[in-house]
Amino acid sequence: MIIGVPREIKIGEKRVSMTPSLCRRVTQLGAKVIMENNAGLTAGFTDAEYKAAGATFTASADKVWKSADMIVKVKEPLEAEYSRMQQGQTIFTYLHLAAGPVLAKQLCKKGILGIAYETVEGADGSFPLLKPMSQVAGRLAIQLGAYFLQSQYGGSGVLLGGIPGTMPGHVVVIGAGNSGAHSVQMAVGVGARVTVLDLDTRKLEALDTEYRGRVVTLMSNPANIEHAVADADLLVGAVLIPAAKAPIVVSAKMVAQMRPGSVIVDIAIDQGGCIETIHATSHEKPVYQSHGVNHYAVPNMPALVGRTSTMGLTQATEPYLAMMVQKGVERALADHKGLAKGVNTRGGRIVYDEVAKAVGFDRA
Ligand SMILES: NC(=O)c1ccc[n+]([C@@H]2O[C@H](COP(=O)([O-])OP(=O)(O)OC[C@H]3O[C@@H](n4cnc5c(N)ncnc54)[C@H](O)[C@@H]3O)[C@@H](O)[C@H]2O)c1
Repeated sequence: MIIGVPREIKIGEKRVSMTPSLCRRVTQLGAKVIMENNAGLTAGFTDAEYKAAGATFTASADKVWKSADMIVKVKEPLEAEYSRMQQGQTIFTYLHLAAGPVLAKQLCKKGILGIAYETVEGADGSFPLLKPMSQVAGRLAIQLGAYFLQSQYGGSGVLLGGIPGTMPGHVVVIGAGNSGAHSVQMAVGVGARVTVLDLDTRKLEALDTEYRGRVVTLMSNPANIEHAVADADLLVGAVLIPAAKAPIVVSAKMVAQMRPGSVIVDIAIDQGGCIETIHATSHEKPVYQSHGVNHYAVPNMPALVGRTSTMGLTQATEPYLAMMVQKGVERALADHKGLAKGVNTRGGRIVYDEVAKAVGFDRA
């Protein structure tokens, strides 16, 4: 099997889909790895390290795509990459097709076997390849929120932890899964007041037990959301309905009730966002103001910490990639139900129901 690793081209992206150590593992298992020059540099890995681990290099992204049976990436293919995709090729990466109908159509047109990191399932129904990046995004949401609360960015000038004698900032997190729970952990760490809402009582119970009174847990319903949002200095959107477009849980009217200069970080933007007033931003211009509130909605937040994120992502993808190299892709998919759940497109069709529903079609 020839594995192609192109350089990521999304704005501000610093991650790479393979570390030298993962490269060594798959080459030892018999794969050939062809990489684009400097593909790992932004994550701190030099071409020399990959060469020592068995990779070959080219300056041409086209050549990487053309030579490979399987492209292993981080972010979904962008428009500039559509023409590079080879008929029938396997692509193993984040796809987020529910928010990407144009890409979904392109993958169908090219008959791509699209295996999406975000829908690969663990035996317990969890999403092991989403988890590490959600953990990163959840933790980053608090430090980014704290930053954009500062006055020079149009923020309200609230210090999340406050100081003795002042009221700490109020962090409200909607969604208590991987990203939300890590936002809660960081928010508690900086000394903020913290409220977290979810539909899943088990998630709320776990946080209640862990933080023993330091965190208010609330059932996610419109009344509780409205009440909590109105008092939030920093609102974090962290909900997920697997593979579907994110539900809007905070209306424009609720945003309008927030104090001027408060901040929203909508982590769920890669699935369309869960705040009515949100639209995607980029690392170049991460924030805009709407209703007097700073909105941050970068779909690839983990790129801000490319090194940590690359290590976290690849330690999760390694067992799946190794399995596909050892057995071949089709055998691996047949043997491993959780990996098979990652298949979003195959043979010109969208084969993941929630994705087909979200984009409104199931073939090109
Ligand atoms: N922007 C980024 O850079 C970035 C990075 C990583 C992950 N993400 C995204 O963050 C989102 C969350 O991912 P995750 O791993 O934390 O998911 P998760 O499945 O671990 O958690 C999602 C939580 O949302 C809850 N939920 C669903 N509907 C809800 C509702 N109406 N109200 C309250 N809670 C609700 C679920 O019960 C669950 O606990 C996903 O869209 C993921 O793709 C974005």
